[in-house]
Amino acid sequence: TFILGIEGTAWNLSAAIVTETEIIAEVTETYKPETGGIHPREAAQHHAKYAASVIKRLLEEAKEKGVKPSNIDGIAFSQGPGLGPCLRTVATAARMLSLSLGVPLIGVNHCIAHIEIGIWRTPAKDPVVLYVSGANSQVISYMGGRYRVFGETLDIGLGNALDKFARGAGLPHPGGPKIEAYAKNAKKYIPLPYVIKGMDLSFSGLSTASSEALKKASLEDVCYSYQETAFAMVVEVAERALAHTGKKEVLLAGGVGANTRLREMLNDMCEARGAKFYVPEKRFMGDNGTMIAYTGLLMYKSGNTLSLDESRVNPSFRTDDVKVTWIREEEM
Ligand code: ATP
Ligand code: FE2
Repeated sequence: TFILGIEGTAWNLSAAIVTETEIIAEVTETYKPETGGIHPREAAQHHAKYAASVIKRLLEEAKEKGVKPSNIDGIAFSQGPGLGPCLRTVATAARMLSLSLGVPLIGVNHCIAHIEIGIWRTPAKDPVVLYVSGANSQVISYMGGRYRVFGETLDIGLGNALDKFARGAGLPHPGGPKIEAYAKNAKKYIPLPYVIKGMDLSFSGLSTASSEALKKASLEDVCYSYQETAFAMVVEVAERALAHTGKKEVLLAGGVGANTRLREMLNDMCEARGAKFYVPEKRFMGDNGTMIAYTGLLMYKSGNTLSLDESRVNPSFRTDDVKVTWIREEEM
């Protein structure tokens, strides 16, 4: 089975073709805002401008590996969650491809794609997933036919929270890696608000308090304290999800997962609980076309395709809205 998938929920436009066992090709064009954060309309214009050339290059690369357009069995696209204008641009490209090749459309939930690629590219089978990216922060695990959200941010995603604090501190975008670098030279820990409500998280108070703390403390110390506090919060929720579900694996997903300190803290927690900790290769942690194509493949094989009039995008598509048709209980 050959599935072509297109990702475009935010600033990455990325398309890939995969089979059950192989990535045939992947082509990515990243929108880079001139200043500050992402402007949804500009990002959508970027995707519209590059969609045709990305698909063309993808098909050329596939051809070199002996895969022709007529071999493609379905077109997967990121249906949500994400920025409305970006989602609509990518969905339009997917509909055109689906019509011209005469193959079905597959509407993929972006968060679930982050999970499935992690399960594909690591030995994880049935993990508790910590998914921390720019816009999203969720602790997720499969149970009774769905990926359940055990805890999530009540305000902004951890990546956006880090980026916002960094912007206020005069650091260039994206702030996450800069904060990580400054944190390495810290001298002391400054107490900051640690906010968990039930199993849910809140980062906006932490960002505000950290900006405020900069008046009295060094950037290094505040970056370090911000990381220690925010990461302890997500690790605590992941640990509670492990305890609650009785699962034995943790999988890290999303762009913030590049952070070495976060990995170290998760690894320590897993060791203490006798759980395995898995992190996919870096190229599969941020947004990529391969994760959409691969999740699309799983869905396609379980008959989970869309008609054109069901293919409307959903900017607030929730992880637990999706009925997981492609996991058989006996596999676990
Ligand atoms: P989504 O649509 O899933 O929210 P996104 O495009 O917003 O995705 P990703 O590409 O998954 O996000 O991740 C980008 C985020 O990861 C940015 O907020 C960035 O600051 C953060 N990030 C990247 N590297 C690091 C790092 N080393 N430490 C902390 N944060 C990081
Ligand atoms: Fe993402």
